[in-house]
Amino acid sequence: MPAAALPNPAGLSPVIAGAWRLAEWQWTAEQRLAWIEANLDIGVTSFDHADADGSHSVARLLGEALALRPGLRQRVQLVGTCHLGAAATAAADLRAAVDAMLRALQTDHLDLLLIQPAATLPDPDLLAAAVAGLRQAGKLRHAGLANATAPQVAALHARLPLATHQVALSPLQRRALDDGLLDQCLQLGLRPMLWAPLAGGRIFTGQDADACRLRAVLATQAAALGIAVTTLVIAWLLHHPSRPLPILGSRRIVVAQQALAALPLQLEAATWWQIWSAASGQAVP
Ligand SMILES: NC(=O)c1ccc[n+]([C@@H]2O[C@H](COP(=O)([O-])OP(=O)(O)OC[C@H]3O[C@@H](n4cnc5c(N)ncnc54)[C@H](OP(=O)(O)O)[C@@H]3O)[C@@H](O)[C@H]2O)c1
Repeated sequence: MPAAALPNPAGLSPVIAGAWRLAEWQWTAEQRLAWIEANLDIGVTSFDHADADGSHSVARLLGEALALRPGLRQRVQLVGTCHLGAAATAAADLRAAVDAMLRALQTDHLDLLLIQPAATLPDPDLLAAAVAGLRQAGKLRHAGLANATAPQVAALHARLPLATHQVALSPLQRRALDDGLLDQCLQLGLRPMLWAPLAGGRIFTGQDADACRLRAVLATQAAALGIAVTTLVIAWLLHHPSRPLPILGSRRIVVAQQALAALPLQLEAATWWQIWSAASGQAVP
């Protein structure tokens, strides 16, 4: 399937705002609202968060901010990840987790629910039925997986058309490239979402050998191309034909602007491989 034809059924923006670090920023609800609206102003309309510990704390912070501006909820896409165990109660747990997430977000539906399975996928038939029930009840529009294995994606997608697979990818975290997860997205026609595209900031501040080597090459190449390092890194990620959707974790709008500047760029293959080589410490094959 040509990359341009890969669907984006949840209507996500080409760059997504990650809210994972929202509590860390210690912002007031008004400051959170300003961050959401500044993203919207530049075309970043999708907001991602996860409930890793069952507290829904980030969802509450997002919900509080959205509630300050009537009508704002209709202008954004809310993406939420639920972590599931492999227990027989997984389907019921999922329904309860989605209800709690919706309450915290102060909304009646998620635009995209992502399910992060434990090492073993809960019974895929039961899971597919639970998701279908949630969709019928109007509590979610689309569903996908996060950090799943290729067989888990295949098993669920065969029962329930998935919208995406959210995986980690950056020049410093290349497993999704190496283990075929991005290729599987191409095969199944899924547009992947990429978390930690800037390696959580390690690209800029990491003191390990890989980060230092990569930083030097990125600085040289970005200067030669006349673009920001962030733009170059996002262009490197978008080079994959599945045309992934990066999820930024920065509080700074300029980072989102620099990421958006990567959308029209097409890196030369030699540039892509030099970055790969600097990050991996291996010679270009
Ligand atoms: N599914 C999952 O398992 C999973 C796991 C983790 C995250 N996520 C999702 O992915 C999103 C993004 O993850 P992430 O936050 O790790 O993404 P990221 O965009 O790779 O990293 C964001 C971090 O990099 C820093 N940074 C950006 N530009 C910088 C620069 N020029 N110099 C120094 N630091 C810089 C940011 O600090 P500033 O704020 O100061 O710019 C921020 O702390 C999360 O919000 C969440 O929605 C999903």
